[in-house]
Amino acid sequence: MKLRPVTKGDMEIASHFLREMIQEMAAGGGDPLRDEMEIHKWFEQSLESALEHEDHLVLLAQNSEPDSEPIGLVEASLTELHPLFARRRLLHIHAIYVEPGYRRQGIGRQLMQAAMRWGREQGCAQIALSVLAGNPASKFYEALGFEVFELEMRRNL
Ligand SMILES: CC(C)(COP(=O)(O)OP(=O)(O)OC[C@H]1O[C@@H](n2cnc3c(N)ncnc32)[C@H](O)[C@@H]1OP(=O)(O)O)[C@@H](O)C(=O)NCCC(=O)NCCS
Repeated sequence: MKLRPVTKGDMEIASHFLREMIQEMAAGGGDPLRDEMEIHKWFEQSLESALEHEDHLVLLAQNSEPDSEPIGLVEASLTELHPLFARRRLLHIHAIYVEPGYRRQGIGRQLMQAAMRWGREQGCAQIALSVLAGNPASKFYEALGFEVFELEMRRNL
């Protein structure tokens, strides 16, 4: 298994991974999604913009055999805390996805570890992300050492 940065030629598969990810998230109790086409366009634009910005990282996981298809993705970017807080650089994870048939083989962990390495090299002391309360991915994050820092609370009006 190797990890490599996403390229323009990977837009279709990368956007597919991101769409699959939010479908899974929505199925687990998230907000209702817009239609497929709008989501596809939004992810394509955001991936293209990610390719152009050095503060943004998108890595693909791929089997080492030649011509093999990517099987996972992580997307991260560098952010600053709100101006009210002492200046500090934070690595934010926007997305992580591993194809269902390849899960529980350590690929997600390797993707996160590579993103964390990159974040450290860029001067980040911490990494943050959001996950829906009912998403099994929260167990994955806990296994990687994440702890709840703040809670978003909602109620019906
Ligand atoms: C979350 C996800 C990326 C994990 O990828 P993965 O390659 O299966 O993760 P790993 O194999 O590296 O798992 C590392 C450890 O995390 C924990 N873990 C991973 N998935 C888990 C699950 N579904 N339930 C409980 N623990 C889990 C385990 O401790 C695991 O170690 P183990 O297999 O030795 O027990 C993958 O399940 C996925 O793509 N989910 C759908 C997309 C998604 O929800 N993304 C997050 C959006 S916030």
